[in-house]
This record gives sequence, structure tokens and C-alpha cells, in this order.
Amino acid sequence: MSQIRSGEVKPAAALVRERRDMLPFDAGPSHGLGRYITEVTCVECHGTKLEGRHDEEGSTPDLVVASGYSRAEFDTLLIKGIPSGGRKLKNPLMGQVARSRFSHLTPHERDAVYAYLKARAERPQ
Ligand code: HEC
Repeated sequence: MSQIRSGEVKPAAALVRERRDMLPFDAGPSHGLGRYITEVTCVECHGTKLEGRHDEEGSTPDLVVASGYSRAEFDTLLIKGIPSGGRKLKNPLMGQVARSRFSHLTPHERDAVYAYLKARAERPQ
């Protein structure tokens, strides 16, 4: 109890409330799968709300950048780790996780992530 009072340990209800506000944008039930996949695969590096992160390990962009990708370019990024225009990414991490993990997503799953990121980018600000 004293740990809860001191704020060291938070009550479950407060944690649930806090966590609810720390999820990627909810673009509605039709984007549930895409949002879920980003939660379990992209937030690790792109931040809990996909807004990008800046820390000592480097930076990641807000995933709004994906809305500038065509569907085919998005596949090339997620499967081969090559960004649009065949550029070379400064930080090799994205290419590594794409090849080792995201290349295993099914086309249906990549469709869902792509559509979700588009919908998220178009959300009212
Ligand atoms: C292990 C860390 C990591 C994970 C997980 C990760 N990314 Fe990234 N991502 C990066 C880094 C680092 C960059 C920045 C690369 C650079 O610009 O040098 C990046 C950049 C990007 C870019 C911008 C590429 C460009 O055009 O410059 C997109 C789009 C992207 N990631 C999509 C995703 C998606 C979608 C997911 C989840 C399916 C994901 N990333 C998961 C690390 C990660």
C-alpha cells in the first residue's frame, strides 16, 4: 500500500488508463488488424504512438512517412529493407528488422499495416 501511496507502484486502474492513452491512433474497426500489427512490431522502435523516437540509440521517424510510399514501395521496404527511391538508410536497423522479421508478414498483413498507416496519416489533427 505504501508503495502505491508514494507513487512507486501504480494501481492497476491507473495503469490501464495510462496504457490506453499510449497506443497508436485508433482508426476504427476496419483498421484493427493493421493497428494491432504496428503495436506489436513497430512501436518498439517508432514509439508507442508511432510518432518516432529520439534517444541515444538514434532516431526513428513518425510513421506518417509511410503515407508517402506507394503500396509496392512499402513492400520493398518491409521485405528487403530498401526505402522508397532506392535510397540508403543511414541507420541499418530498419533494413535488418525488415529482412529478419517483416518479410515474414503475409501480403494480407502488409496490406493491413499499409492501409492503417495511411488512415493514421490522414487523421484529423
Ligand atoms: C528495431 C527497430 C525498428 C523497428 C522494429 C521498426 N523500425 Fe522502421 N525504422 C527504424 C529506424 C532506425 C529508421 C530510420 C532509418 C534511417 O533513416 O536511417 C526507420 C525508418 C522507417 C521508415 C522511413 C524510411 C524512409 O523512407 O526514410 C518507415 C516507413 C518505417 N521505418 C516503417 C516501419 C514499420 C511499418 C515498422 C513495423 C512493421 C517498423 N518500421 C519497425 C527502426 C525500426
